[in-house]
Amino acid sequence: MRDAGGQPEPLLAGRDLVKIFRGRPSKRYSLFRTKIRAVNDVTISIDAGKTVGIAGESGCGKTTLARLMVGALPPDDGQIYFRGRDVAKLRGEERKTYRAAVQAVFQDPRSAINPRLSVAASIAEPLVRQKDQTKADLGAAVDELLTAVGLEEGVRDNFPHQLSGGMLQRVAIAQALASDPKIIVLDEPVSALDVSIRAQIMNLLQDLRRDYGVSFFMISHDLATLRYLSDEVGVMYLGKLVEFGPAELVFDQPQHPYTAALLSAAPEIRRDSAAKGSQRIVLPGDMPSPEEPTQGGSFHSRCPLWQKLGRPSVCTDEDPALHSTGGRHRVACHFWDATPTTLLPTTTPSSDGHDVTEAAGPRLDPATGQDHAREDNWADGPW
Ligand SMILES: Nc1ncnc2c1ncn2[C@@H]1O[C@H](COP(=O)(O)OP(=O)(O)OP(=O)(O)O)[C@@H](O)[C@H]1O
Ligand code: SF4
Ligand SMILES: [Mg+2]
Repeated sequence: MRDAGGQPEPLLAGRDLVKIFRGRPSKRYSLFRTKIRAVNDVTISIDAGKTVGIAGESGCGKTTLARLMVGALPPDDGQIYFRGRDVAKLRGEERKTYRAAVQAVFQDPRSAINPRLSVAASIAEPLVRQKDQTKADLGAAVDELLTAVGLEEGVRDNFPHQLSGGMLQRVAIAQALASDPKIIVLDEPVSALDVSIRAQIMNLLQDLRRDYGVSFFMISHDLATLRYLSDEVGVMYLGKLVEFGPAELVFDQPQHPYTAALLSAAPEIRRDSAAKGSQRIVLPGDMPSPEEPTQGGSFHSRCPLWQKLGRPSVCTDEDPALHSTGGRHRVACHFWDATPTTLLPTTTPSSDGHDVTEAAGPRLDPATGQDHAREDNWADGPW
């Protein structure tokens, strides 16, 4: 399907998405509750065969956005489109097709897998729902999926409590694949796993993308995970996308001060030579509560660029819209063109002396969970 401009429609897209939760009872009127704007006017799209990653500190709305995109939560405003069709308007067979095509894998596989079903029965469930199959066909399909996710046939009769976290995450991925999905929404799929298992699962995801052509929409607070798997990356702050674009541009030439600050805590994942020896940008304070929305811009109180520019009033008066800097790279900053040079000083040599321009190994080492070219691949962000 193509859009009005003749471009192929994205596989999955969210337009102007808003999700508001009820918060605590209001201080003034106990019958009322505060409103939490968990996702605030987000527009995003994932093309067929691509991986889009979302970064941001805890509470910025990543999981809520993932749940909206997979249809697990209805938006309070905005629409979700699957291949150009508004999913709220899909009925009957079309809705069934969309449901099968968009699958989810979450951080804790134990909560997603029925503890009373064996591995084989869990994986077979979506297959049975799709069409009548003979027992032999079903068994063969389950074995094929077990192989695809790197599990031995010996585990088919095991129950979830008999499996490790890494094996269970593989079962959850096999279960998602059983629906023959076009896209899998992954919310922190490796963050609950040991470092060495993380690398195996990330390599598995790379392989599945290649072998099945499946797209991923991936949430992670870990920038190294996103760098490894994503074609495009979005950065969220307080329910909004503040930067979105091709991964190499967002990671190596961040245009938003918040992205620059996140990346300054993990210079080793950057592949451009300017990252060598770059200084850490420490933002003052914490992300404000989404229960207490500020008037105008939401980031200025923590923004180092705002300070450097002499506190321009436009930042306090107007929340900047996402602005295209060329191609698909978009940034929500009134002064986006000032960010990279102003905020990424390169005065202090890197303490570990890595040559980050060579830091992009194509596979992670399962024994260590590290990108081959560097030693400390799992540095946490500043959150
Ligand atoms: N069901 C809910 N009811 C009320 N508030 C919610 C609910 N789910 C999320 N929130 C709030 O919405 C905001 C965004 O939460 P969300 O879980 O989407 O963030 P996140 O970026 O995934 O955080 P984390 O990195 O900690 O997983 C938070 O303030 C959270 O407390
Ligand atoms: S718009 Fe102003 S406050 Fe917001 S990121 Fe840009 S410089 Fe900082
Ligand atoms: Mg979350």
